[in-house]
Amino acid sequence: MKTLHSMVLMLIILSVIKEALNDPFISKVSKGESATLYCNTSLPAGSQVQWTRRGVSGDKRVIVTRQEDGSIVKEIGDLQNRFQIDNRFSIRIERVDLGDLGTYECGGRETSLIVLLDPPSHTVSEGGSVTLHCGDSAVLAGAGSVRWKQVNGDTSHSILNKDPAGNIVKSVNDPDHRYELRPDSSLYIRKVKSADAGKYQCNGIHVADLKVLTGEWFVFVLLSIFTNI
Ligand SMILES: *[C@@H]1O[C@H](CO)[C@@H](O)[C@H](O)[C@H]1NC(C)=O
Repeated sequence: MKTLHSMVLMLIILSVIKEALNDPFISKVSKGESATLYCNTSLPAGSQVQWTRRGVSGDKRVIVTRQEDGSIVKEIGDLQNRFQIDNRFSIRIERVDLGDLGTYECGGRETSLIVLLDPPSHTVSEGGSVTLHCGDSAVLAGAGSVRWKQVNGDTSHSILNKDPAGNIVKSVNDPDHRYELRPDSSLYIRKVKSADAGKYQCNGIHVADLKVLTGEWFVFVLLSIFTNI
């Protein structure tokens, strides 16, 4: 019995490790910072390597090639010299911009570069509606899935998930159909309530802040205007 338990535990651990290995590597960088992405480390020294980038729309292009003699050929315009390859074949990108977003590949190893931006803040009156954008970075991080969460301080709760096959599962009780996932992965919320205020994550990335103006808030503003007069 004990052996069976340890075997089951072993299988679970192995499947978790396999899952982690199957996941494409992800590198998250704030706009303006630099990023280093690693090539396949099994390649012999002095190999010819090529770095390519696949954008969110699926277009793939060669960024830079390192030839066997160590010379670097840039296949894209790089006037500001932002792209460098070191002798371990890693690519370093200086001053990362939104245009650098995509899945990079070298020697068969893929890394998705996620560019983090300051999340926009939305202010909506109670009862109104709002569209929160997932954005290209978070869409890329989802690798075909979409997961929306609301975060309030230390607690977070899942709103809805979409799997790569397109099945949408709501995790919240939503009798009024207040939540809707749009084709571009945006979250549309109607009949906004004060409890909707907070931070929103799409695929684990903080993509929006929501402030909700309640009736009491409106009275408070009116009162402060009158008391000032
Ligand atoms: C890394 O390179 C080795 C040797 O060329 C190759 O066998 C392996 O498949 C490569 N890894 C990936 C993820 O492509």
